[in-house]
Amino acid sequence: LFAGPCDFVKGVVALDGLPPADRPEVCFAGRSNVGKSSLINALTGRRGLARASNTPGRTQEINYFALGEAAYLVDLPGYGFAKAPKPKVEAWQALLRAYLAGRVSLRRVFLLIDSRHGVKPADHEHMELLDKAAVSFQAVMTKADKRGAALDRTLEAVKTELAKHPAAYPEILTTSSETGAGIDRLRATILSIL
Ligand code: GTP
Ligand code: MG
Repeated sequence: LFAGPCDFVKGVVALDGLPPADRPEVCFAGRSNVGKSSLINALTGRRGLARASNTPGRTQEINYFALGEAAYLVDLPGYGFAKAPKPKVEAWQALLRAYLAGRVSLRRVFLLIDSRHGVKPADHEHMELLDKAAVSFQAVMTKADKRGAALDRTLEAVKTELAKHPAAYPEILTTSSETGAGIDRLRATILSIL
């Protein structure tokens, strides 16, 4: 499936702009700059598919990518980006909540956590939101290439955090979009839940 075509479908800014829920989808959530767009590019092997950038807040819409006709990959805007104007942040949070709670075809949220930073308050809040909406999520460590030997300690802390959240899967995936580490495993996980 990941070897086949993957195309940008649309950027959604309001609930009524969502494409019909006619196929399964998984989405990628996480703080700004954690590497969501880069991970979608690594998964699909298409460098410029999702726009990645060093500027936090790059992705500002719910971006839909179609894996052929079989599934959607959904790139979410980052949370915890304090520099965005408040009304904008609030509107985005309302859209995100409505999307997460109401999207019947959403199979799993992959919640990305930067290997260098671990779980931040914004991650904790987001996990609570997912608990409340009863949307199952799985943690994915990103940028593992930058962390080296200290990754184990971060992983333990993330495990401890996940244990507090009923909607969390216990298994944590570790990835690097830079080296490709863990990408096959994540692909296999996605295929198994579609
Ligand atoms: P927003 O759209 O702003 O929420 O950010 P994002 O989560 O989509 O992050 P994005 O993919 O744009 O990546 C942010 C920065 O991190 C870019 O400069 C990427 O090149 C870098 N980056 C992403 N993944 C990796 C990785 O696995 N390793 C390293 N070293 N850098 C990465
Ligand atoms: Mg992005």
